[in-house]
Amino acid sequence: MHSLYLSSSFFSHINLSPKLQHKSLCVQNPFLSNFLIPSSSNPIFSKTLNPNPNSHFSIKSSSSSSSSSFRSRNPSDITVLVVGPTGYIGRFVVRELLRRGFHVVAVAREQSGIRGRNSKQETLDQLAGSTVLFSDVTDHSALHLSLSALGRPVDVVVSCLASRSGGVKDSWRIDYDATKNSLLAGRRLGASHFVLLSAICVQKPLLEFQRAKLKFEAELEAEAARDGGFTYSIVRPTAFFKSLGGQVELVKEGKPYVMFGDGRLCACKPISEEDLASFIANCVLDEDKINKILPIGGPGKAMTPLEQGEMLFRLLGKEPKFLKVPIGVMDFAIGALDFLTKIFPSMEDAAEFGKIGRYYAAESMLVLDPETGEYSGEKTPSYGKDTLEEFFERVIREGMAGQELGEQTIF
Ligand SMILES: NC(=O)c1ccc[n+]([C@@H]2O[C@H](COP(=O)([O-])OP(=O)(O)OC[C@H]3O[C@@H](n4cnc5c(N)ncnc54)[C@H](OP(=O)(O)O)[C@@H]3O)[C@@H](O)[C@H]2O)c1
Repeated sequence: MHSLYLSSSFFSHINLSPKLQHKSLCVQNPFLSNFLIPSSSNPIFSKTLNPNPNSHFSIKSSSSSSSSSFRSRNPSDITVLVVGPTGYIGRFVVRELLRRGFHVVAVAREQSGIRGRNSKQETLDQLAGSTVLFSDVTDHSALHLSLSALGRPVDVVVSCLASRSGGVKDSWRIDYDATKNSLLAGRRLGASHFVLLSAICVQKPLLEFQRAKLKFEAELEAEAARDGGFTYSIVRPTAFFKSLGGQVELVKEGKPYVMFGDGRLCACKPISEEDLASFIANCVLDEDKINKILPIGGPGKAMTPLEQGEMLFRLLGKEPKFLKVPIGVMDFAIGALDFLTKIFPSMEDAAEFGKIGRYYAAESMLVLDPETGEYSGEKTPSYGKDTLEEFFERVIREGMAGQELGEQTIF
């Protein structure tokens, strides 16, 4: 396997470990020879590199004239660029795309995973079968340069990027800036379709990561309106299993199931990683998913926290024991944090985490019916086969391995 190392400017990340402060870019690619392919030697790269990320809507993709032609090709002749391939959903998306025979280029960090705990080799092992490109999605020029070095066009970009913390600045840096960088870099290599993993909660945007995602969604729509050869699919899933399994082991140990209000404040139609990855993979070729916003949940009906708790006690064969916390407790804490943030701006993330917690305690992860203004389980499409009940059974048996929450253990 050839490898190419390029020096890179580095945008520091508040949560990066010191080891990452000396990062280099590395391409490990079975197709790549050990040199940078000059942009002029390939029509795909005939445009001058412009590192200004705001200039991308004036750049025409080199493949826009044959925009959807990739859909008629065999998967093995279609290159899908995946950003965020090391996340909870991204890993499964890479696996599913490979299973379907696509050529997958995965852009990863040398230390990936929660708190950068996976080494470069572990990342390569995890993404085995794909062409792994170690680069920096937060640095537009570095990303473009390392992608150009691949020496092959890209047909589709799939973004599973997300801020690992949900902090204010990191959300904008990843859910907007880095995602936009990947659009820009993909377009320059000929990508004519973009699949975005978004979230159903952006329907009611009260949080910074939701605003960042919505801004990027709007830019995807604008790009498709500007260039008829470009298409997108925006996937807005409901809750992931990992977000609902956190109490299984506690309840198993005899603790009560904790919920806010009467346990009916919110509901969701949880979807598994495999099922969501399959839905996202469908978006690469399915014509009926072109230029659509696609809310999606798992199988079965919507469930409230109360129903989830009751199911868990039934599976454990225990008498239900609930701890009902008034939602006002969170409002009080958020009010206090907001006040403190005015005096100590460095506390803005703490206040944001409080708001994220409150949001998920009170807002349903379901389609917001525009006619009634209410969340609707019936109007939230279902996909897949994995049920929350099977997931709870597995966690009871095997624990939460592989289902860890992000850096702030909020989502
Ligand atoms: N949790 C839920 O219930 C839920 C429900 C609906 C929708 N969603 C949405 O689904 C999306 C994906 O969630 P997920 O749980 O799969 O995310 P995740 O596990 O946190 O993965 C995030 C991905 O983004 C990458 N990333 C983050 N910061 C980066 C940086 N500075 N530089 C390079 N890469 C970076 C990560 O790479 P590293 O491995 O290198 O960190 C990882 O590949 C999110 O947008 C979320 O809002 C979540």
